[in-house]
Amino acid sequence: MMVDDATLIQAARAARERACAPYSKFKVGAALETEDGVVITGCNVENSTYGLTVCAERVAVFKAVSEGYRAFCRIVVVADTQAPTPPCGPCRQILWEFCGDIEVILANLTEEKGRYRLTDLLPLPFDARLLG
Ligand code: THU
Repeated sequence: MMVDDATLIQAARAARERACAPYSKFKVGAALETEDGVVITGCNVENSTYGLTVCAERVAVFKAVSEGYRAFCRIVVVADTQAPTPPCGPCRQILWEFCGDIEVILANLTEEKGRYRLTDLLPLPFDARLLG
């Protein structure tokens, strides 16, 4: 971890401002830290079909992977909720695929709400090891 918590949380909050969420009005931001301390952000991007919506976490992961990053240590997810907003099931699977057991920090606009390892959120994951 080369980026301090406050900086990573602030990056996720700033990304959240760029969310395209005209349908749900539920804006989410994510900030993914690479093992070298590079911060890649994401926001949710909704679609009028609804089903094509992509979550902030997946946007961050796919941006990072497409830029050549392959090793990550943590991700911050920010939403404007009192209770922590955790990654959805599909995002947990995508995070596991590319990030392994990273730290997941949940925050809202004013404070940190929780800290987890991905394996706490996704116990017994399916992955390539099972493909033989
Ligand atoms: N959403 C995220 O971007 N990340 C989460 O962790 C939870 C849900 C988005 C998807 C959709 O645009 C909106 O929040 C409401 O579900």
